Amino acid sequence: MGSWNKCIVCKWVRSRAGQNAKCADGEAGRPTDGQSTTERDVKRPDAGEENAGAQPEDKLQENGGNVPPTAQESALLAERDAPKGECMQRAAENGENAQRTAGQKEKRANGPLGERESGGAASPASELPAAASGAYGPYNPPLGENGRKAMNIDVLTLFPEMFHSVIGSSILGRAVEKGLLKLQFTDIRAFSHDKHNKADDYPFGGGGGMVMMADPIFGALQSVDAAEKKIVYMSPRGKILDAEKIKELAKLDSFVILCGHYEGVDQRALDYWDIEEVSIGDYVLTGGELPAMVLIDSVARMLPGVLGNEHSALDESIYSGLLEHPQYTKPREYCGMQVPEVLVSGNHKLIALWRFREALLLTKQRRPDLYDQFIQDKSRFSKDEAKIVEEIEKIRT
Ligand code: ADE
Repeated sequence: MGSWNKCIVCKWVRSRAGQNAKCADGEAGRPTDGQSTTERDVKRPDAGEENAGAQPEDKLQENGGNVPPTAQESALLAERDAPKGECMQRAAENGENAQRTAGQKEKRANGPLGERESGGAASPASELPAAASGAYGPYNPPLGENGRKAMNIDVLTLFPEMFHSVIGSSILGRAVEKGLLKLQFTDIRAFSHDKHNKADDYPFGGGGGMVMMADPIFGALQSVDAAEKKIVYMSPRGKILDAEKIKELAKLDSFVILCGHYEGVDQRALDYWDIEEVSIGDYVLTGGELPAMVLIDSVARMLPGVLGNEHSALDESIYSGLLEHPQYTKPREYCGMQVPEVLVSGNHKLIALWRFREALLLTKQRRPDLYDQFIQDKSRFSKDEAKIVEEIEKIRT
């Protein structure tokens, strides 16, 4: 890795960031006791009573003025005290004053960190178990079976190995094999500039838990060229994932999923990269990995060719606006219960109408909100369907 040039204030490792890169915002106190800050551990609230409750920032103020800074320290402290950190200053040069939508893309494309190698102590893929990192799908995929380029999903996570089982599952695995889907997992921790590969820290302002730091996230995002892509952050604060959002994402060539952990991620990462937060429901999970799997699965099955039948994903259930009708398979009789006669009649028109009626009834009972929406536009129904709607309307649920 060559000789690393560490910033004494924030421990930014210069060689990873390229020769001209400078540190991000500083956070550690400068030394008062003859040790350099790189040798001293910044005390944490859990580091003993003497420092109990102190935030890194407090420590800096506490030490300030006692020891004359070296020229290098002065320069770095001046940088730290500037109204904006280096990242954001560079972002400003890259067109922060432009309109948010256009400017954001440009800002992101130029990148706040400059040219940067793939990360910290480990290359994000190489030192992880083969099955848990890197790309799933051909590196440069040819056109998939459906004649389209593979949908490319990058997942940034602290726990790539969690995705192992999902990738091995039959439908997603086959989608990858067929060149319809390419999944790439990036270990955010590999972009830490901390000697212990730390990717989280205590929240400013106190409170429990840890917050994922902006810098490793910035590095990971840059490594997957996220500037030009849609980025989704899995978070219980987000808009609830629904059929519309899934359809919207399924239309993209590529997108990036950021998985949080602990108390979430530093807000600046979300703001800077213009990230959309998406929730899978009003409950809190321990991290964004399971929600990301839900998102990947729900989007992948919308891709033409993934389910085998081009239309099946859109035809069924919620996507048509109704809950799905009951399904039956062999045997025709089970524990004395019969399959509805119409389903074995061979009359496709009657079968379709029976399914429509059952779906409508179920939706009225369980999801009156969807039902009301569905029956609003009467012009969409055939004569037979309209009769069924009329009949169901009369039923009190
Ligand atoms: N992370 C934790 N809980 C979540 C949720 N409900 N949806 C998305 N991401 C999450």
